[in-house]
Amino acid sequence: MSFSVLSDIDHVAIAVRSLEEGIETYRTLLEREPEVEIVEEQGVRVAAFPLEHGRVELLEPLDEDSPVAAFLERHGEGLHHVAFRTGDADEALDRAARSGLEPLNDAARPGAGGYRIGFLHPNDLHGVLVEMAQPPGGNGGSDGDV
Ligand code: CO
Repeated sequence: MSFSVLSDIDHVAIAVRSLEEGIETYRTLLEREPEVEIVEEQGVRVAAFPLEHGRVELLEPLDEDSPVAAFLERHGEGLHHVAFRTGDADEALDRAARSGLEPLNDAARPGAGGYRIGFLHPNDLHGVLVEMAQPPGGNGGSDGDV
């Protein structure tokens, strides 16, 4: 198995208009507290609820220029992307491109929590925006636990 294989669900991300309201709802559902972080590079404030495997992230746009603001405008609140864990986001992007899937990024870039991330276009993936997420240290191999 190659190091860049997509080994697990890293997180699912949900676009919300109000992070406070989203936190209240998902705190009720998941019965735990999130960690809140601002990710300037993605133009979002993120609330991450850890799960046994992976996590649920709520995304609130920082301003009108945020891609998530555009998403909310077009689709309303809902599933924004699914992130798969990989040991090498750059190689995973290259491999996807060679397989005919359209990357949204030429190269991986910084994400929340020290990750390196890259996205694939939803048109090629039945309407789902896919993120390839390389955790700090590149823990994309077989053990899966973070
Ligand atoms: Co993500």
